[in-house]
Amino acid sequence: MKPGSGRRLASRPALGARARSGRWILVLLLPTMSNLAKADPEPKRPPPEAYALHCSGCHRLDGRGIPGIAPDLREIGVLLDVDGGRDYLGRVPGVAQAPVGDADLAALLNWVLTEIAHAPPDPAYTAREIAKLRAHPLRDPLAARRALLDPKP
Ligand code: HEC
Repeated sequence: MKPGSGRRLASRPALGARARSGRWILVLLLPTMSNLAKADPEPKRPPPEAYALHCSGCHRLDGRGIPGIAPDLREIGVLLDVDGGRDYLGRVPGVAQAPVGDADLAALLNWVLTEIAHAPPDPAYTAREIAKLRAHPLRDPLAARRALLDPKP
């Protein structure tokens, strides 16, 4: 017997146990994953708190923004009325890169549009839609915004 091989043999049952528990984790996760496809779960943090924590530093608590730093969010409803505006809102870096999960971000953006901009999105953003949008954050959001609101003929 080579030195060390005894230890390898002895560790096999432990590896088997780990693989088995891995399967259990998958079984436990499956219902959660199918729930996500149906309806978004409750956000981990209520949207007003998430907004205060992650957005208000730049956009202020009431959304009015800070001139030269961050735009007024009370006016973003107009973006929902133009082609591509809905996608823009999910891809603008402050949104796409917010340190929250997809379901929380969907709830947060729906809340901002409803409570701050008074323009509830119809249909509401879902975690799935947000996941697709935030995967491609805008590199030049200001140019994208100009193209949306002032399209050249
Ligand atoms: C560090 C400052 C900062 C933070 C934090 C921030 N933003 Fe922004 N946000 C900006 C800036 C600057 C812009 C203008 C576009 C750009 O340059 O990215 C912007 C643009 C936006 C827009 C598009 C507005 C428009 O009229 O085009 C939305 C919507 C938005 N932010 C929402 C949020 C939300 C929601 C959060 C919190 C999750 C957040 N932002 C966090 C700075 C910030």
